[in-house]
Amino acid sequence: LSSTEADLAPIEVGQAVTVVWRGRPVFIRHRTAKEIDEARQTPLADLKDPEPDQRRVIKDPWLVMVGICTHLGCVPLGQKSTDAKGEYGGWFCPCHGSHYDTSGRIRKGPAPKNLVVPPYAFISDTRIRIG
Ligand code: FES
Repeated sequence: LSSTEADLAPIEVGQAVTVVWRGRPVFIRHRTAKEIDEARQTPLADLKDPEPDQRRVIKDPWLVMVGICTHLGCVPLGQKSTDAKGEYGGWFCPCHGSHYDTSGRIRKGPAPKNLVVPPYAFISDTRIRIG
């Protein structure tokens, strides 16, 4: 399948789900207001791969990203409520210790780039099509 649809309606604030798109994991997180604030208030000068949070989302609470570390391709932790989320509250790649923030941007560790936002669109208020 070249595209994947995901139903966002059951994903509560603070929860995340993983769907598969073209054989790759795609992380969908329904961010809390605090997570959004943290992402928005981070100065771009603090970022290794500077990108404003606003450019990484279509609708504020929903962060949609390919769940593959940009270092050497491990799947970062942070999707489950019990997972380590790293020092910036987003995702943590245990392979070599990359920390991603609540916008999926690389903040610490060897990964060179932010987690990739795939092409996607809202096809209703609560449904997206990825790809
Ligand atoms: Fe994620 Fe190396 S693959 S830190």
